[in-house]
Amino acid sequence: MRSFTVTDEVRAYAVEHGSWRTDEVMRRLRSETAALGDPAGMQVGEDEGQLLTMLTRLVGARRAVEVGTFTGYSSLCIARGLAEGGSLLCCDISEEWTAVGRRAWAAAGLAERIELRLAPALDTLRSLPTEPTIDLAFIDADKPGYAAYWAELVPRVRPGGLLVVDNVLWSGRVVEPDADDANTEALRAFNDLVAADARVEAVVLTAFDGLTVARKR
Ligand SMILES: C[S@@+](CC[C@H](N)C(=O)[O-])C[C@H]1O[C@@H](n2cnc3c(N)ncnc32)[C@H](O)[C@@H]1O
Repeated sequence: MRSFTVTDEVRAYAVEHGSWRTDEVMRRLRSETAALGDPAGMQVGEDEGQLLTMLTRLVGARRAVEVGTFTGYSSLCIARGLAEGGSLLCCDISEEWTAVGRRAWAAAGLAERIELRLAPALDTLRSLPTEPTIDLAFIDADKPGYAAYWAELVPRVRPGGLLVVDNVLWSGRVVEPDADDANTEALRAFNDLVAADARVEAVVLTAFDGLTVARKR
C-alpha cells in the first residue's frame, strides 16, 4: 500500500475533480471563517465536504442531523445533498459562529432546509422522537461528548442510514502511547465503543483527520 502527504496542491486537485464545486457562497464562507484565525481549523475541508454531500445523496437523505455546526460549511454540504423536501437539524451552542452559517445558508437558498438549535447537543438529541427516522447523522462537536451523542443517535437512525463521525484519529494521537489528554482518551474510548457496537457496520477512513462511516444494520 502506498500513502503520501496530502499537500494543499493535491487537495485542490482532488476537489477540482469532484462533482460538487465550491461555489461563490462557499468560497466566501471559507474566507470569512479563515478570518477567525485558529478556530478556522475546525472547519471540514472542501474534499470532506464533497464526501458529506455524496454520502447524503447515497442514502437519499430526507432527514439529517448535524452535531457541531460552527460556521455552517459542513451543514451546507449536507443540505445540498438532501433529497427533495429534505431537512437538516443543526446542533451547536455558539450564537456567534452559527450566525456566520445562517447568513451563508440564506445566500445559498438553503435556509428553509436547515433548522438550527442553539443548546447543548445532548439536550437537543434527547428531545428528538425516539423512532428511527434519521437518514444521516454527522458528529463533529466536543470530543468527550461523542459517546453520548452516539448513544442518542444510533436508535434514531433508520436501518440502512449512516452515522458519520469526524476527527476519530485525532492527527494520529489515538495510537501515540504518551498521548493522554482528555480528547485523545475520549476518542480512543469512542472508537472502541463503535468497533464493539453490533447495531452498526463501520469503517474508519484514514482520510482527513479520521472519519468513521457507520451503517445502521
Ligand atoms: C469542529 S466544530 C464543527 C465544525 C463544522 N462541522 C464545520 O465543518 O464547519 C465543533 C462545534 O461544536 C460546537 N460544540 C461544542 N460543544 C458543544 C455542545 N456541547 N453542544 C453542541 N455544540 C457544541 C462548537 O461550538 C463548534 O461550533
